[in-house]
Amino acid sequence: MKTDFLVIGSGAAGLSFALKAAEKGHVTIVTKGEMVECNTNYAQGGICSVTYEPDTFEKHITDTLVCGAGRCDVQAVELVVRRAPELIQDLIAWGTRFNKTPDGRFELNREGGHTEHRILHYEDLTGAEIERALIQSVRQHPNITVLEHHFAIDLLTQHHLGEFVTRHTRNITCFGAYVLNEKTGEILTMLSRFTIVATGGCGQIYSSTSNPHVATGDGIAMCHRAKAHTENMEFIQFHPTTLYNPGETPNFLITEAMRGFGAILRLQNGEEFMDKYHPMKSLAPRDITARAIYREMTRRGEDYVYLDVTHKDPDAIRDHFPNIYEKCLSIGIDITKDWIPVTPAAHYSCGGVKVDLNGQSWVKRLYVLGEASCTGLHGANRLASNSLIEAVVYGDQAAKHTIERFDKVGFQEGIPDWDFEGTQHTEEMLMLIQSKREVQSIMSNYVGIVRSNLSLGRAMHRLSILFEETEELYNKTKPVRELCELRNMIAVAYLVIKQGRELQESVGCHYNTDYQKKA
Ligand code: FAD
Ligand code: SIN
Repeated sequence: MKTDFLVIGSGAAGLSFALKAAEKGHVTIVTKGEMVECNTNYAQGGICSVTYEPDTFEKHITDTLVCGAGRCDVQAVELVVRRAPELIQDLIAWGTRFNKTPDGRFELNREGGHTEHRILHYEDLTGAEIERALIQSVRQHPNITVLEHHFAIDLLTQHHLGEFVTRHTRNITCFGAYVLNEKTGEILTMLSRFTIVATGGCGQIYSSTSNPHVATGDGIAMCHRAKAHTENMEFIQFHPTTLYNPGETPNFLITEAMRGFGAILRLQNGEEFMDKYHPMKSLAPRDITARAIYREMTRRGEDYVYLDVTHKDPDAIRDHFPNIYEKCLSIGIDITKDWIPVTPAAHYSCGGVKVDLNGQSWVKRLYVLGEASCTGLHGANRLASNSLIEAVVYGDQAAKHTIERFDKVGFQEGIPDWDFEGTQHTEEMLMLIQSKREVQSIMSNYVGIVRSNLSLGRAMHRLSILFEETEELYNKTKPVRELCELRNMIAVAYLVIKQGRELQESVGCHYNTDYQKKA
C-alpha cells in the first residue's frame, strides 16, 4: 500500500496534522482500536492560550519555564505560546466549542503552576469535544482514509533493505511502517513519503494511571527501535488528583481546574497541608503537589487524601464539572456535600522522541507529534494544559514542513513484506497479561513518584528478565497486538529507568532520594 502521509494515531496530534496535510496529498490514518480511544478524548481541564489581558505571552512563557524546572527548550516554549491563539482558531473552525461567559468572552480556567486564568475549556470534557470535532472533520475529508483496528508494529528504514544502521548512522530514513490488521491478522507493508508517529503516551506502564488502555508507548518504542533519539523519559508526570476508587482502571481524573475553582486538598483528618510545601498551596506545580500528597500518604499509611469543594456554590459546581459530578455521584459521592477521595497516578510523559521545531526526528521523513514526542516544551515537568496546544501547534509545523518537501520525496522500492509465519504458543500467550501486570508493578513499586538508585537498579534487573522472556516469545510467534504492546511497554520502561539512572540529580518529575533536590 502506498500513501503520501502515513499518520499513526488518531488523537489531537495525528488528526490535526492530517487535516492540514490532506490539502496537499493523500493521508492514511492507522489507529489501533476505535478512532476515539486516545488520551485526547479524556482531557478535562482544557487547552492553554493567552486570550485576554492581564495575561501576556511573557507570563505564559515564564510559567512554562518555571514549571519545567530549568529544562525547557526556550525556542519550543516561545513557538507554542506565541502560535497558540492562531491554532485555537483552527480548532474552532473545525467545529470545537469552548465555554463562554454571558458577555460572550471565553471562560478561562486556571490550573496548577499558572499565574493567570488562561485555559479554554468545554465543561470538564474539553478533550472529548476537540476529538469529536476533529473526527467529524476527518471523516468528511475526501483525501483522508482512516483504518481503525490497525496496529503499527514497526517503522521501515534502511534496516529492512539489509543495511546495518546504528543510533549514530546519519541519514537513516523512514519509508513507512508494517501495520497489523487486528481483525484479519494480515500484516501490511505501508509505504509513505512521510511517516507521522502520533501515538500518545505510555501511562499504562504503571499500575495506577489516568491513561486509557491504548497508552502503551508504542510509538516511542518503535522510534527507539528505528534508531531515533529519545530524551527526558525519566520525567513521568504524576497527576495529584485521580479518584480513589479501588478496582477501577484506568483511574478517573479529577481535574486540576477544580483546584483552580477553589477546591482544597485535605488530609483524612481534615487538615489542610499544602501550605507546608508551596506558597501556591493547592495550586502548586503538579510535581510538588503529587510529591506532597505521596509524602503525607506514606507518612500516615493512608491510600488517599481528600479534595474538598463543598464550600463553593452547588449549582456552580454542577455547572463547571458536570462530568465529574455525575461520575462521583454514580459511586455514592455527592461532591457538593462530600469530600472526594483522591490519589496521585501516572499521567503524562514529558519526554519522548526528540524532535526539532518542525516535529522532525533524527530519522529523516519521520515526524513525531504530541505526547510521543519530546519537543523541549515541558522540560522536567509539564505545565497543566500545555499538551493539547503543543499537539496542534506541532501538527501545523510538521504539516508545513512536509508540504514544502513533498515534491522532493518519493516512495522507497524493495522493502520486503513481513516474512515470518510463526505459530501461536498458546500457553505462553496466556502469560501475556501476567507479564504486563509485572511491568506495571515494577514501575509503580520502584520507578514511581519517589525513586532511589537502589530502586532503579532493582527495576532494571527485574525488567531484564521480562525482556528476555518476551523477546524469545516474539521471535517465534506470529505478532498479535497484546504481544507487541507488551514488548513496547518493556522498551519504554527500560528507557524511563535508564535515563533516570543517567540523571544524577533530582529535578522536576524525577525525584531520586540519593540526590538533594535543587528547588
Ligand atoms: P493520543 O490522544 O493519546 O492519541 C494517540 C493515538 O495513537 C490513539 O488513537 C492510539 O490508539 C493510537 N496508537 C497508539 N499506538 C498505536 C499503534 N501501535 N498503532 C496504531 N495506533 C496507535 N492535556 C491538556 O493539555 N489539557 C488537559 O486538560 C488534559 N487532561 C488530560 C486528562 C487525562 C485523563 C489524560 C489521560 C490526559 C490529559 N491531558 C491533558 C494530556 C493530553 O490529553 C495528551 O497529552 C494529548 O491528548 C496527547 O495527544 P496525542 O494526539 O499525542 O495522543
Ligand atoms: C487536568 O484537567 O487536571 C489535566 C490537565 C492536564 O493534564 O494538562
